[in-house]
Amino acid sequence: MDKYLKSFNIAAYISGSGTNLKAILDNVLSGFLSSKVKLVISNNEEAVGLGFPRELGIDTLVIKRTGITRDEFSKIQLDSLQKHDIDLIVLAGYIKKITPKVVDKYRGKIINIHPALLPKFGGKGMYGKNVHEAVILAGESQSGPTVHFVDEIYDNGEIIHQKKIDIDIGNDTAETLAKKVLQLEYLAYSEAIKILEEERG
Ligand code: GRF
Repeated sequence: MDKYLKSFNIAAYISGSGTNLKAILDNVLSGFLSSKVKLVISNNEEAVGLGFPRELGIDTLVIKRTGITRDEFSKIQLDSLQKHDIDLIVLAGYIKKITPKVVDKYRGKIINIHPALLPKFGGKGMYGKNVHEAVILAGESQSGPTVHFVDEIYDNGEIIHQKKIDIDIGNDTAETLAKKVLQLEYLAYSEAIKILEEERG
């Protein structure tokens, strides 16, 4: 008999291209994941990644950070998360910090993907190209994405899953490494969600 898998109602948060979200949506459609993406939240109405969920009829919500208080920013999110019965928040290239009220309400239910092997190369300022430059500069022999729980501190929460790739020392640059790690992210994120589905099933 098939093992019962927990199926999450996912809210994905994005700010830009949303290619990690696209990979997750593909893995939901293929049946690799039992969870469903019910809501996509973005701080950026221009985010290219809003196109994928909209094509699939998934609700999207744009909440700009400017012009509202932090409490209002939290409340709009919390109301929508509750309305969509969300039990897993997946940060997929979301550049704003999650507010303490949202972290508190969804503690243990918010995950993020970081493009390096935490606990190294994380923390404030460690995003995008900066991460890969730091990895190359440190002469590391391996890198790869880390999926972890989110708490109040940047890149600090418990690690759920990592995938490693060898660095071609002397040849890889921050740009080539970024591309290789991003390819691994697409698999790592869905594998991490599957780990949670199985653990909680
Ligand atoms: C990825 O590099 C991820 O590690 C970081 O944000 C980027 C998201 O890329 N957290 P995309 O928007 O999914 O294409």
